[in-house]
Amino acid sequence: MSEIIICETPDDVADAAAALIHEDQTAAIEERGVFRIALSGGRTPRLLYERLASEERRDMMSWEHWEVFWSDERAVPLDDPESNFHLAYAALLSKVPVSEVFRMPAENPDLHRAAEDYALTLRLRFGLRPPAFDTVLLGMGADGHTASLFPDHPALNSTALVESVEVEQPLPRRLTLTLPVLNRALHILFLVTGAEKAERVCEILKNGIASLPASRVNPEEGLCTWILDEAAASLIR
Ligand code: 6PG
Repeated sequence: MSEIIICETPDDVADAAAALIHEDQTAAIEERGVFRIALSGGRTPRLLYERLASEERRDMMSWEHWEVFWSDERAVPLDDPESNFHLAYAALLSKVPVSEVFRMPAENPDLHRAAEDYALTLRLRFGLRPPAFDTVLLGMGADGHTASLFPDHPALNSTALVESVEVEQPLPRRLTLTLPVLNRALHILFLVTGAEKAERVCEILKNGIASLPASRVNPEEGLCTWILDEAAASLIR
């Protein structure tokens, strides 16, 4: 099942996402005593991370029950501003008392081994059951990629939990969760802002194009929420 929330500004998108994450974490902790979330990278989630770390919201979350993972990571050093871990650590994780943080080891020169290591981490944390995140944050590139699943890439058909990819991007080497993991999530939160995304958003949400990576994220039993700002939603109004 999917839903679309259109907000006026990127700030409003961050507010809406923070409220939904609060709902998800409360339900997960009540039910299982733990909240497992996979964070995304790029520019968009920074506002959300800052909102979650803010005075008004920080104390609403039960951080001690959070287990933090990533939906993808670039093969750069941890302290590189392009690192998705660095983004989340600087804006959120360094400011709240989350103790269970499982970053993707994408600085490992052997990226294939790093993918296997992270898959093992997922198996150990989720037990023998296939990993089913309570919440997965995702963004979408203007080409329709999500996490580090890019159009026409073999990783889109992987049955592994985690893949290492080499793509024609400014940051070519990456680790990414795969569609089988993303589609077992209880709640997918797509945060998409900016006019440059509007055409793809229209192709996926209005025209039903099913071939793009972002359109192949359809949780089997969970909910997929697209939170858009007016600019990204301009062609689906
Ligand atoms: C990454 C991201 C990627 C991102 C989109 C949108 O590591 O590159 O996970 O999937 O979400 O490229 O990026 P922006 O938020 O910067 O537009």
